[in-house]
Amino acid sequence: MKFFIDTANLDDIAEAQALGILDGVTTNPSLMAKEGITGEENILNHYKKICEIVDGDVSAEVISTDFDDMVKEGEALASLHPQIVVKLPLIADGIKACKYFSDKGIRTNVTLVFSAGQALLAAKAGATYVSPFLGRLDDISTDGLNLIAEIRQIYDNYGFETQILAASIRHTMHVIDCAKIGSDVMTGPLSSITGLLKHPLTDIGLAKFLADYKKGN
Ligand code: E4P
Repeated sequence: MKFFIDTANLDDIAEAQALGILDGVTTNPSLMAKEGITGEENILNHYKKICEIVDGDVSAEVISTDFDDMVKEGEALASLHPQIVVKLPLIADGIKACKYFSDKGIRTNVTLVFSAGQALLAAKAGATYVSPFLGRLDDISTDGLNLIAEIRQIYDNYGFETQILAASIRHTMHVIDCAKIGSDVMTGPLSSITGLLKHPLTDIGLAKFLADYKKGN
C-alpha cells in the first residue's frame, strides 16, 4: 500500500519523507488555507516546494467547477511539475475533465467520493486515483470502510486500473483496516503514519536491551 501524507505543511511533509516510506502528498484548498497559503501565485509556488521535498505524486486540486475552466486550470497545474496529479471533484464536469485529462495522459485524482457509484464513474473516466473519504463518512455514522471494500470489489470485478486512495484517514486503525481491505493508497495526517511506530513492548524491550548492554560493558 502506498503512503501519502494529507497536508500542505512543509515540515510534516519533510518529516514523513525523511522516514523513507512516503509515496506522495495530497492537498486540498482547506489544507492550503490552514497553512496560510493564499493567492494563485503563492499556491502554485507552494506546490513546487512540495514537489521538491517528495519523490512521489503530489495532488493539486482545481478550484473551477465548469469543464472549460477545469481544463485550463488542470493543464496549468500539470505543467508545474511532472509529479503533479490534477485533483478534480466528483461532479459531472469533473468526470468530463477526468476523461479529457486521461485521454491526454495527464494523471488525475477524483476527489469527494462518497459512494460506490461515484467511484465507478471515476474509473470509467480513466481516473488515476479515486479518493473515497473514509473519515467523513464515519463522522456521520456511516461505514466508511465498507465503501472502500465495495470499491475494491467493483474494480477487481472489471480490472479497472484506477487506484483506490483512501482519504480522510483519521488514525492508525483506519490505515491498518484499509491495508486489510486492499486499498492501493492511504492519505492521512502525519500522526496516522508515525502512530504506526508506537508499541509499549518495543519501548520496554529496547530499554531492557540497552540496560543489559550497559551492565556487560
Ligand atoms: C483528500 O485528498 C482530502 O484532502 C482529505 O483526505 C480530506 O480529509 P478530511 O476529511 O480530514 O478533511
